[in-house]
Amino acid sequence: MILVTGTTGQLGSAILDALTTRGAAPLASNRSGQGGAQRIDFDDPDTVSFVGVDTLVLVSAGEAEDDVVIARHETAIAAAERDGVQHVVYTSLTSAGDHLAFALAHRWTERRLQHSSLSWTVLRNGLYAELFGSLLARSGDSLGSAFGDGALAAVARADLAEAAAAVAMAPSDHVGHNYDLVGEPITAAQVADHLAVPLRTLSLAEQRMALAEAPLKPFQPAMLMSIFTGVRHGFLDGTSDDLRALLGREPADTVAVAAAALPPR
Ligand SMILES: NC(=O)c1ccc[n+]([C@@H]2O[C@H](COP(=O)([O-])OP(=O)(O)OC[C@H]3O[C@@H](n4cnc5c(N)ncnc54)[C@H](OP(=O)(O)O)[C@@H]3O)[C@@H](O)[C@H]2O)c1
Repeated sequence: MILVTGTTGQLGSAILDALTTRGAAPLASNRSGQGGAQRIDFDDPDTVSFVGVDTLVLVSAGEAEDDVVIARHETAIAAAERDGVQHVVYTSLTSAGDHLAFALAHRWTERRLQHSSLSWTVLRNGLYAELFGSLLARSGDSLGSAFGDGALAAVARADLAEAAAAVAMAPSDHVGHNYDLVGEPITAAQVADHLAVPLRTLSLAEQRMALAEAPLKPFQPAMLMSIFTGVRHGFLDGTSDDLRALLGREPADTVAVAAAALPPR
């Protein structure tokens, strides 16, 4: 039996759909138990049971401070060991993301799996094309971007979901693998061209000022600024064939996906 966590989230729900499309009958879990799912909240260890689960698709649990995310993942992995789960598929962060402010909790979780009694596969997910688009700013008819000339090896969430489903359907083929799931690098200029609008480059200071006015949680500006500077300065444009290999086809056109995810005017 396959169980997917975080099925109220965009990636978890897409993984569930991809598994169903492939003919599996996965179990869903989320914090509220909505949609007939098993109620599993990693912040409430009493709710965390994986009895009867062979393959756990552990979707990284939300944006929060590192101590909170690490405690959630510890609860999940310890429960998987206790309840006899055979294989854990963990959705991590691309190898090039070590500079990002939220990398540590992912790398901690990878280490925890390596030192566990479980068999595992780590999906080192690239940053979403949808996220790239959402971090561009509409100003009048032009597009504002703090990414400069930098490119991001962006991935469509739907492709990451399909890759996770492919692994979860055949876990024994993927034991102990770290897959780097990134797409072809794209730039803000390509998104602007796609939309036929002019592009205005923002400095990092301008971007930081804009974030200071946004309704964000205390840790979020640092996380987002690490993405802007990482892309701008060429740290997130590396490529890999892992995504194409798991999908068995070309990944989606991420320029179009990013353009469709621009924030509203
Ligand atoms: N690669 C990228 O570009 C990127 C971007 C953003 C985030 N991420 C990471 O990838 C994960 C999945 O992305 P997404 O797009 O699906 O994010 P999302 O839509 O925000 O979903 C996050 C999921 O995590 C669940 N969650 C949060 N706290 C939890 C807890 N204590 N116990 C169990 N589940 C909990 C949420 O449940 P509720 O709905 O109940 O809150 C939600 O289902 C995120 O959680 C984050 O770690 C990756």
